[in-house]
Amino acid sequence: MPAELICFEQRCRARFPITEVFYNCPRCGGLLEATYDFGNLDAGALKDEWRQRRMCNTPLDQSGVWRYREIIPFLDDYSAVVSLREGNTPLLAAPRAAEYAGLDHLVFKHQGFNPTGSFKDNGMTCGVAQALRLGMRRVACVSTGNTSASMAAYASAAGLQPIIFIPHGNISYGKLAQALEYGARTFQVEANFDQILALVRTLAERLGIYLLNSINPFRIEGQKTIIVEMMDQRDWNAPDWIVLPGGNLGNASAFGKALRELHALGFIEKMPRLAVIQAQGSAPFWDLMQRADRSRLHAVGHPETLATAIKIGDPVSWPKALHEVTASGGVVERVTEQEIADAKAIIGVSGIGCEPASAATLAGLRKLREAGAVARTHDVVAVLTGNLLKDPDYIYRYHTGSLDAPDGTRLKSTFGNEPVVVANDPERIEKLLDNQS
Ligand code: F0G
Repeated sequence: MPAELICFEQRCRARFPITEVFYNCPRCGGLLEATYDFGNLDAGALKDEWRQRRMCNTPLDQSGVWRYREIIPFLDDYSAVVSLREGNTPLLAAPRAAEYAGLDHLVFKHQGFNPTGSFKDNGMTCGVAQALRLGMRRVACVSTGNTSASMAAYASAAGLQPIIFIPHGNISYGKLAQALEYGARTFQVEANFDQILALVRTLAERLGIYLLNSINPFRIEGQKTIIVEMMDQRDWNAPDWIVLPGGNLGNASAFGKALRELHALGFIEKMPRLAVIQAQGSAPFWDLMQRADRSRLHAVGHPETLATAIKIGDPVSWPKALHEVTASGGVVERVTEQEIADAKAIIGVSGIGCEPASAATLAGLRKLREAGAVARTHDVVAVLTGNLLKDPDYIYRYHTGSLDAPDGTRLKSTFGNEPVVVANDPERIEKLLDNQS
């Protein structure tokens, strides 16, 4: 069989059939990943084939995930795949953001252009395809909002029942609204993300519901294509750095796996370094990297950040992320609420925009530049994980000077852009505009 599940723990490496419903290794409890016998895959020929597929009208080839199916070959039949045309997200040059970070150039890979507005769609089309293959009827996840929005859409499109668990009062309305509109059974639980994940794992096993959190190895396979597509868009020239926000650390795991596989198979000549950025109040992975003993992660009991997407204190995928960041010679940085808010406004005035968690990338880059870890001339791609419209409340508060950090301190509206309330009076408006020019 060309595809199998393998335990990520180096001392175990147990293998299981790809159709087993395991989220952890039954032998040692380690994380699982998909592994393939790629045979004598011809990287040069595939690069041409993948380019050709962009001009094809079949849903599979139009998908920015399934177009690259040879690098994620866990299915043996593609007829049941549900695609909402995920992926296909742009690389956007951002000179203003580059200047803010102290870089000559900066490019954003904007995953907010996905059908449900976040990078989760890349993984979800794969997770739902596996659910269908296994004959599952119901799928579940706990989420800080984006996973649930994405799962709701893909599950409903596939005729499965989506069941969603979210921390009550701690996700943005944009994301909650998506889950409701896409028809998910939604439970707002009075607990934080980490507590609900433990609950949902037990429930999923007891009720035979398929779990689609990023612990699901097939979601990770889909998220690998963010990197594959990025390299394709760059004509297979790897950058020096790939910067991304870190929450549950599924994306860091996926990016590292993609880079290792692309490198081993001869698609890219050099390995970029990963820079994972966390919010200061929810930074257990940053904390781990400061320690000499990295055999155990010290969870943050009460994670706090306005970037609710990454408000996670006990990230499940930390062993994978630790391996990938270390293997790439990468770094982990943490940033304050003010730094995230200001970086986000800069991404906004670049005409690009993103949700708060995504802006941690630019804030982190600025810090890494100041510390000398990243050089001015380095070739950097930062991944914006979610769309600007995911969290409009945060934006309005920032620009009107009413955004409070979780500890109650009012954030400075450094790059604020407050709307002006004015009477229906042309002269008055003309005067205001004259003063502005
Ligand atoms: N950025 C956004 C916009 C996210 O929604 C998430 C995670 C992350 C970054 C962090 O990615 O978990 O792979 O390290 N959101 C998850 C959710 C947890 O439930 O939507 P990660």
